Amino acid sequence: MIETRLTELFGTRLPIIAGGLQWLATPEYVAAAAHAGIIGFMTAASIPDLDKLRDEIRRCRDLCDGKPFGVNVSMLPKLVEGEATQKVFDIIADEAVPFVETSGHSPEAYIGGLQDAGIKVIHKAPSVRFALKAQSVGVDAVAVVGAECGGHPGLDMIGSMVQGSLAARKLTIPVAIGGGIGNGDQLVAALALGADGVVVGTRFLVADEVWAHPDYKKHLIEASETDTTLALQSLRNTIRALANETMTEVQKIEAEHPGDIDALMPLISGKIGREALQTGDWNKGVHSVGQSVVFADQIEPLADIVQRMDAEASAALARIKTLACRSYAP
Ligand SMILES: Cc1cc2nc3c(=O)[nH]c(=O)nc-3n(C[C@H](O)[C@H](O)[C@H](O)COP(=O)(O)O)c2cc1C
Repeated sequence: MIETRLTELFGTRLPIIAGGLQWLATPEYVAAAAHAGIIGFMTAASIPDLDKLRDEIRRCRDLCDGKPFGVNVSMLPKLVEGEATQKVFDIIADEAVPFVETSGHSPEAYIGGLQDAGIKVIHKAPSVRFALKAQSVGVDAVAVVGAECGGHPGLDMIGSMVQGSLAARKLTIPVAIGGGIGNGDQLVAALALGADGVVVGTRFLVADEVWAHPDYKKHLIEASETDTTLALQSLRNTIRALANETMTEVQKIEAEHPGDIDALMPLISGKIGREALQTGDWNKGVHSVGQSVVFADQIEPLADIVQRMDAEASAALARIKTLACRSYAP
């Protein structure tokens, strides 16, 4: 057990956040997080049908059985027509979801309504600049992710070691840092930087409770820290994803026709990627994966991954204590 302002905010045993995962952060996954003593966020964007979203939120609450959980609402520019953000927040408020993780855009327009409904909001940003803005509009906590992260690292591409330290120094509200975090040593490093916890995505992709095909997970287990790559810079929407045939194709199109969304759309809309998660053909589709994939070493229950991180964190703290004792020994 580690107590920080984030464990206090969420009521969890450990200061670890299982961030939203498009397609993959289902109620089963979020409940596994809740029962492992951390908080998870199911991804609203995975469920465009609003009635289904409401049902899934209810199912998530049942599975969590009184333990904390939340919903992730990504407000990145939409690739498809239609703006349902306010309707999504209305359902979240109606269903009295305790926590929301926002990302992709400032939550300023929605924060008042959410907080009036008693919902605590953590906003995730890829730079300290945006995190400070979120703090100024009244969010309860922020998460700041560095260049190593799976998904959207922003445009500045500052590594987590610099960005995490800067975030902890500049922000006054509780802060989680993320991007490349995949073990307990790194959790302790984040706390040493002054953060209140960490946000994790990639490391949990091989959990039993993630529904992706076993062949996809096996490929992640074999992958190293060099097996991710960047694309979509020409759309100002940089993504770090698994290096595969589709990403090579996306990079080729971007080099020849920068910003040509019509040419890119068939590859990046998510349809091919979702199918590939079902079939296990990892070479197809754009799959958000970060450099910490190197720490994903076996398919096992999420609780076991968390338990290992916990044990590693205890060992790291003991190791540091020994160092301190040695330096002060007479
Ligand atoms: C497969 C995958 C899907 C993701 N989908 C979302 C999403 O829908 N919304 C969001 O805010 N973040 C999303 N993220 C980002 C994670 O919530 C988290 O911030 C990030 O993975 C942390 O960095 P890490 O991958 O190095 O652990 C996704 C990440 C991954 C790996």
